[in-house]
Amino acid sequence: MSEVLTLDNITAGYSGDIDVLRTLSLTVEAGSITGLIGLNGAGKSTVMKAICGFLKPKHGRVVYQGEDITGIAPHQLSARGIWYIPQESSLFPFMTVTENLRLPLEGLSRSVGQPDRAEIDRRFEEMLEKFPALQPKLRAQAGDLSGGQQKMVEFAKAWLVRPRLCLIDEPSIGLAPKIVEEVFQWIHLFASEQMAILLVDHNVRRVIAMSHRIYVLSLGEITASGAPADFAGNLHEQVKAWLGINF
Ligand SMILES: Nc1ncnc2c1ncn2[C@@H]1O[C@H](COP(=O)(O)OP(=O)(O)OP(=O)(O)O)[C@@H](O)[C@H]1O
Ligand SMILES: [Mg+2]
Repeated sequence: MSEVLTLDNITAGYSGDIDVLRTLSLTVEAGSITGLIGLNGAGKSTVMKAICGFLKPKHGRVVYQGEDITGIAPHQLSARGIWYIPQESSLFPFMTVTENLRLPLEGLSRSVGQPDRAEIDRRFEEMLEKFPALQPKLRAQAGDLSGGQQKMVEFAKAWLVRPRLCLIDEPSIGLAPKIVEEVFQWIHLFASEQMAILLVDHNVRRVIAMSHRIYVLSLGEITASGAPADFAGNLHEQVKAWLGINF
């Protein structure tokens, strides 16, 4: 497998001399799921923000498909095939579901000339086959949907864009168990279509089971990494040890 993304000794923070991420390196292989686990405040979302241009690293490089993309603005990265499903909602609450779903594609169409209108319509129809529960909600305002329905719109929006690399931050947080199952099925769907995924979720067991490679993040540093088999055995005790917690 080839590397689609490499973080090379990234140091980043939000203010002055406080480094939230410290000389952090990781790789995401093409068409595979990479899991990132760690305690609240470890810096997982900060890793995502440093990759997709919301936070410019102080040191180090973000390399995507062999190209240095460190600090490039988010809207330019979506045109290159990187998409971010954030921990919090990215929907416009007063726009309809259809408008929210079409917006990124229409933005790409204007900025890079594709996909064209016929392709947008084709992808939209195909998306509804994968996410049929959205059909009756298309004219609703996105902000009126339930948390689970909004998450479905987020995944459908990502699916429409067909990114090469999708960053997915805490997708199951606050959702009922049945919807959580759906969320993980969508992630499997994305992976089955050769999308590379960097996945953060507090459901550590699940992340380890579905990832090809797992990184443990503790206070902004990678403290362990490996394949799922390396994380077998008494997972709870091991993860506690990796995260450096005693209780
Ligand atoms: N916009 C910001 N401004 C200043 N500090 C921030 C900002 N966002 C995050 N931080 C700080 O950076 C550190 C890492 O936060 P981050 O959100 O990356 O953690 P996380 O691992 O995603 O946590 P969680 O599991 O709670 O989502 C925390 O100490 C947090 O307070
Ligand atoms: Mg987070």
